[in-house]
Amino acid sequence: MPSFEVPCVHQEDVFDPKIHLDYSPAERTFTLAEWGIQEHEYTTPIAGCTPFRLLSLEGVMAYRRAILRKDVFDQCAGHPFPGTVTLRNLAKVSKFVNDFWTHPDTLSIISDALGIKVVAVMPTEIGHTNIQVSGSGDVLSQLKIQPSQEARPLTKEEESYDPLSGSSVIPWQDSYPFVCVLMLSDTTHMKGGETYVSARDIQAASIIIRGPGLGTAVVLQGGQVKHLAARAFGSAERITTITSFRAAELGRFDDSRLANLRAYDNLPELYSQWSLYRLKKMRDEIDAAVRKIESLDKSGITFVHQETEALCEELSKYSQRTARQMVDPEIRDGLARKYGAKGIAEASKYWQLIRAMPQASPKIAEATRYAEDSMPRMKGYTFDWCQTRARIQRGSIERGTQGLIVWDDKADYLLGDELEAQGLNEILLWWLEETGLMAAIGA
Ligand SMILES: [Fe+2]
Repeated sequence: MPSFEVPCVHQEDVFDPKIHLDYSPAERTFTLAEWGIQEHEYTTPIAGCTPFRLLSLEGVMAYRRAILRKDVFDQCAGHPFPGTVTLRNLAKVSKFVNDFWTHPDTLSIISDALGIKVVAVMPTEIGHTNIQVSGSGDVLSQLKIQPSQEARPLTKEEESYDPLSGSSVIPWQDSYPFVCVLMLSDTTHMKGGETYVSARDIQAASIIIRGPGLGTAVVLQGGQVKHLAARAFGSAERITTITSFRAAELGRFDDSRLANLRAYDNLPELYSQWSLYRLKKMRDEIDAAVRKIESLDKSGITFVHQETEALCEELSKYSQRTARQMVDPEIRDGLARKYGAKGIAEASKYWQLIRAMPQASPKIAEATRYAEDSMPRMKGYTFDWCQTRARIQRGSIERGTQGLIVWDDKADYLLGDELEAQGLNEILLWWLEETGLMAAIGA
């Protein structure tokens, strides 16, 4: 793993695995098969695990010292949801956080838990931190370096809170293959905070994984497992810090996407890191293939052209996905002004309404022609749609951001379905707007 360059901007502990790590393996590991999720080319067998000890108490204190600072909040804090502060891009301002998540010992623990060698996807995804406090007003001033042990009485509503009730609760898959969630608060008095996993391919009830306690972590193959985190109550603070990972080994590609992040992140920064991660991955794959062919050449062993063919095939799909995920910031900003992040996230809902309206077919066909003829930015997407549609018609099994694309021969596979499958909410909404389809449902 290349260590990212972090200028030291404030005095903090120097990460020392001997002092700060305290690993003991998880009691139980779960496989995708156990959760009824089929394996495919982008999966690995382990789905998740029960909480395991990762940080010593000194480690927790050092981590908290590194992030609970005014200069860190000034540079990294955002408020994407009411009552929650998130810290992003921590690796840029905290050498401790960066060094902890990229240290070979930490990586080997997380790789061990996941059953595959992993590295952080990109610096911006190192140590994404969610902070909730029970009081109102300035968040930082309510937090001390020592984790609070104060219990807070539950309200009636909190007492009866059911994470699976309510129509707005949709379990989702993460943008990246793997995730490690580490708890930096005392959970003695906490109620909730579990992860609910929906076993996708079997109609079983949700599986519940206990939330991690102070200094412990869980790993999850979050890009493949539909899950949701229950809210937690009863304690004065809750701080979780999360890093996303991908497989480190050559020859293993991932189906990461940026759908969840584009809604609120700083896009030029996100895209620059995304580009580096994807281009370096492709470069490493090409370098390895070149080295192999050169050594075959030297030792007079027969060259197998199918290997190059397979690699080119894979690289072409990978590079296409890389490009498609970088939705024009102008499009996002325009839509965000009109619909807000929540409205953009609901693009699928609008699309389903349009699909279901009377006389939908000719209107959608016309809008698709318009995209092909008069919206040059839609070119790549209409191309993808034609390709997927042709494969579906040939009976191929296709995968989208929310799992298998299940299709029957009664309904056609439409451009909106392709955008939905790729998690391109902004492009979907933009196309619906530009072509008057949004107006057709009165939205
Ligand atoms: Fe998640």
